[in-house]
Amino acid sequence: MIAFPDTFIWGTATAAHQTEGGNVSSDWWHLEHQPDSPCAEPSGDACDSYHRYSEDIAIVKSLGLSSYRFSLEWARIEPEPGEYSRAQLEHYKRMIGTVLDSGLIPNVTLQHFTVPQWFKKAQGWARPDAADIFARYCEQVVPILNDVDIVCTINEPNIATCLWGLSRKQTSMQTAGLPDPNPAVSDGLTASHERAKEILKCAGVSEVGWAVATLVFEAEPGAEEITTQHAYERETRFIEAARTDDWLGVQAYTRQRIGIDGPLTVPADAEKTLTGWEYFPDAAYRGLKDAAALAPGVPLHVTENGIATDNDQRRIDYIEGALQGIHRAISEGIDVRSYYYWSLLDNYEWASGYGPTFGMVQVNRSTFERTLKPSAKWFSSVVHANGVTS
Ligand code: NOJ
Repeated sequence: MIAFPDTFIWGTATAAHQTEGGNVSSDWWHLEHQPDSPCAEPSGDACDSYHRYSEDIAIVKSLGLSSYRFSLEWARIEPEPGEYSRAQLEHYKRMIGTVLDSGLIPNVTLQHFTVPQWFKKAQGWARPDAADIFARYCEQVVPILNDVDIVCTINEPNIATCLWGLSRKQTSMQTAGLPDPNPAVSDGLTASHERAKEILKCAGVSEVGWAVATLVFEAEPGAEEITTQHAYERETRFIEAARTDDWLGVQAYTRQRIGIDGPLTVPADAEKTLTGWEYFPDAAYRGLKDAAALAPGVPLHVTENGIATDNDQRRIDYIEGALQGIHRAISEGIDVRSYYYWSLLDNYEWASGYGPTFGMVQVNRSTFERTLKPSAKWFSSVVHANGVTS
């Protein structure tokens, strides 16, 4: 058995659009319903977590976890420019209150891929004043973050910039098929993070950071230079932005090999998960190493790690491998504070729809009934032991 530090935070993560349902004012809802939609299916009611969040939080608590990571939906809070919904702010205030009352640490993300459709239509993150608009939204949510210590401003800005122009069929993220990043969008996201951080710090939030997808780029022989270039706009610059943050979120799932002509597809003989990604539990260790090298000394949280599979034993194997790697990173001196499994629930996996099931908890698509998978019970035993087998 290898033991984690006593202060280690065990959690699980979800995001608003992927679980709430009926997120009609968001850009993704529009994307899902356009005639040539790149999405396999619309998000619809998702997991109905907008109404069932208490049940979700109770499950997190029952598993013995110490934290729940979830996001606020900007599109609900500001459905029209400058019009803020008191009712939606109250909704999220109640949700945060439920997490706190359960004795869980809320880890709140302010923006997780979706934006209000009006913002998207008006150039969104590429607007010169994007950071002002995001700052305005942050000012509105600050009052409901009173007892929240950990805030993530923006989720995976490095993937958001690649998905910004998404308009055609695209089956999965974090693969060779990801569209190119948009430099103006990347600049807008970075500036928005900085402004949000100022506002949150002034308001007394103690731990402000953002979460980056660590894509674990691996250069084939001769492709070292092109890999460094490829990684810069897709990962490196977003981690270097975090050097003055309170923490950095590492989100690791798989690896990406780069050849002399660019990203390579997963080799035919490699095991693939339901997202089409290579089964690679060492992604967590490798992501932490990369993050620690690019943002030395910044405390790291594994804000997401998980696998889409219908073989729940494989999920257990994957998490166990990831945790062994995280433990190795800690023993090598890397300051890793937490592990959040993605995801609590089987939920809406963006353009891939409901096919790739990441959840430790199955959600019946008609009744929304939640059923724990064996991996949830296994994860709970890891948390109780504060360790895994070596
Ligand atoms: C990255 C994203 O933050 C999350 O929304 C997504 O569902 C998972 N990782 C899996 O792709």
